[in-house]
Amino acid sequence: MSQTKGRILTGHRPTGPRHIGHLAGTLTNWARLQDSYECFFLVADLHVLTTDYTHPERVRQNSFGIVLDWLAAGIDPERATLVLQSAAPAHAQLETLLGMLVTVGRLSRVPTYKEQVHELQLQPSLGLLGYPVLQAADILVYKADTVPVGEDQLPHIELTREVARRFNQLYGETFPEPQGLLSTTPRLPGTDNRTMHTSYGNAIFLRDTPEETTQKVMAMYTDPTRIHATDPGHVEGNPVFAYHDAFNQDKAEVAELKERYLAGTVGDVEVKRRLARALNETLAPIRQRRETLAANPDAGFDRRNPG
Ligand code: TRP
Repeated sequence: MSQTKGRILTGHRPTGPRHIGHLAGTLTNWARLQDSYECFFLVADLHVLTTDYTHPERVRQNSFGIVLDWLAAGIDPERATLVLQSAAPAHAQLETLLGMLVTVGRLSRVPTYKEQVHELQLQPSLGLLGYPVLQAADILVYKADTVPVGEDQLPHIELTREVARRFNQLYGETFPEPQGLLSTTPRLPGTDNRTMHTSYGNAIFLRDTPEETTQKVMAMYTDPTRIHATDPGHVEGNPVFAYHDAFNQDKAEVAELKERYLAGTVGDVEVKRRLARALNETLAPIRQRRETLAANPDAGFDRRNPG
């Protein structure tokens, strides 16, 4: 183990099963980061409650579900620490203290907050307003210096830095000012070419069977301008090729398919069939690990703090 680069904290809200967008966008990257950082991976179940507090039992179920997905995708509890936010009281405790150092005005200008308020059409709760303060607490509890996130989360990291700086000024050097680490992989579209989303019916889940995966691939949106297999097609903006780029290890095959697609010498069905095969190859070891874990849930676990 060569954990030399520093300490990471990052996490997901347990909103539902993880899909191949999470795999390409974050999980593969997290698994790799375990080689060079000390890693803390957080199941941010309290954060889910800021918008979705009517069915807490569902949040609990989803929390166990995403841990299984993470482990199947290569998060290694021998090397990384997994944290269930609601089971570690320090998160909420530090949020209370940090809350003294942030103004309501500052929090109401956070872009994610403004979007949520607009979207939900509700009177925002104190919990929702405090979302970034809880996130700052998540990071600062562990004195993490590096936070791998998507671009939409950068305003939260900026706020974390401000709060850490303020705390340090007042009480002495305590917290490092963490840096965001942006993933370089492009965002994967859904099977219908909208944003891939757990609840849109356009996601391929890590827990899907090979048959379900193939079925979803064969039904994918492709190039709407193309009527016949002999029409020259578009590769750019075509989610089938975005998936080929993300998951097909055989780069020569991908290059050849693109060339033939542009020339109108290969049909959508063949391009999709090859994608289904490549995707199922990528998912096979993940499914294998999930089965082993599901059959033997206590294997290798130290169940401290069962919450
Ligand atoms: N807000 C993050 C998201 O929705 C999840 C999260 C909670 C997080 N706490 C965190 C991410 C701390 C990084 C660090 O994706």
